[in-house]
Amino acid sequence: MKPVVLGRIAEVRARVAAARRAGKLVGLVPTMGALHIGHAKLIERARADCGAVLVTIFVNPLQFGPAEDFRRYPRTLERDLDVCEREGADWVFAPDAGEMYPVPALTFVDSPRVGAHLCGKFRPGHFQGVATVVAKLFNIARADRAYFGEKDFQQLAVIRRMVTDLNMPVEVVPVPTVREPDGLAISSRNVYLSPLERAAAPLLYQALEAARRAIEDGETRSAVVKAVALDILATSALIQVEYVEVVDPGEIQPMVEIVRPARIAAAIRIGATRLIDNVGC
Ligand code: PAJ
Repeated sequence: MKPVVLGRIAEVRARVAAARRAGKLVGLVPTMGALHIGHAKLIERARADCGAVLVTIFVNPLQFGPAEDFRRYPRTLERDLDVCEREGADWVFAPDAGEMYPVPALTFVDSPRVGAHLCGKFRPGHFQGVATVVAKLFNIARADRAYFGEKDFQQLAVIRRMVTDLNMPVEVVPVPTVREPDGLAISSRNVYLSPLERAAAPLLYQALEAARRAIEDGETRSAVVKAVALDILATSALIQVEYVEVVDPGEIQPMVEIVRPARIAAAIRIGATRLIDNVGC
């Protein structure tokens, strides 16, 4: 069945309230659209767990920096609705910016410690924009569960901590990263890659996996582990490294001596495209 497309917050509230009155568990999958099989996996998980599934599609201006790709971010609503239908979503909330921000926001949610390192260093204000819009979506949807990908691990950590610190009545469910057969994490931004760039992109995951193996073989010096990953990334002249870091999975603080559980995360630029990935160990 085709999902019902909703543009108004009041409609979302009415649908969710009715589902809850009928005793259904409500699952929320926040996205920015350009849906791919990574997003589909989140919807599939929500569908398996919950009696009602709400997907949101909103390219949130608050989380893009002035020099970032907000304007050219892929917008593919018709195809996105097909994905939502295939995965069995009940409702798709696709508001315009005026519905989400009828007046300029003067109130923000932030978890500055969790957002300080990794992408936070290179995208000032990004995690505040993410936390703020996700808090809004939680207040709009009042879902029981919300599904987020491990692909954006720091984002997941910021949201988890926001929910804990602010007692938000929602359970955050992490979903493992979905990858191409060659290891590249699936991302809406992969469409920007030229064929040559696409051929170099799997080095990111290979570098992270080599770092993970070094840790699993007993290496505890973060500098040594990072060098393992950097050596692999250096084999392509197309790749510029933004960061490679080993952090704790809760507060996303860099470690000098690695204590497990740890997360190895990296961001690179290939041409004009920024790619991120991470693995756990
Ligand atoms: P977006 O990039 O569209 O991603 C929506 C959700 O899909 C996020 O939870 C993300 O981690 C997950 N996802 C993306 N690629 C994935 C993959 N390959 N495997 C598993 N999950 C994947 O993240 C955002 O949108 C926004 O910041 C948002 C949370 C919607 C707030 O605006």
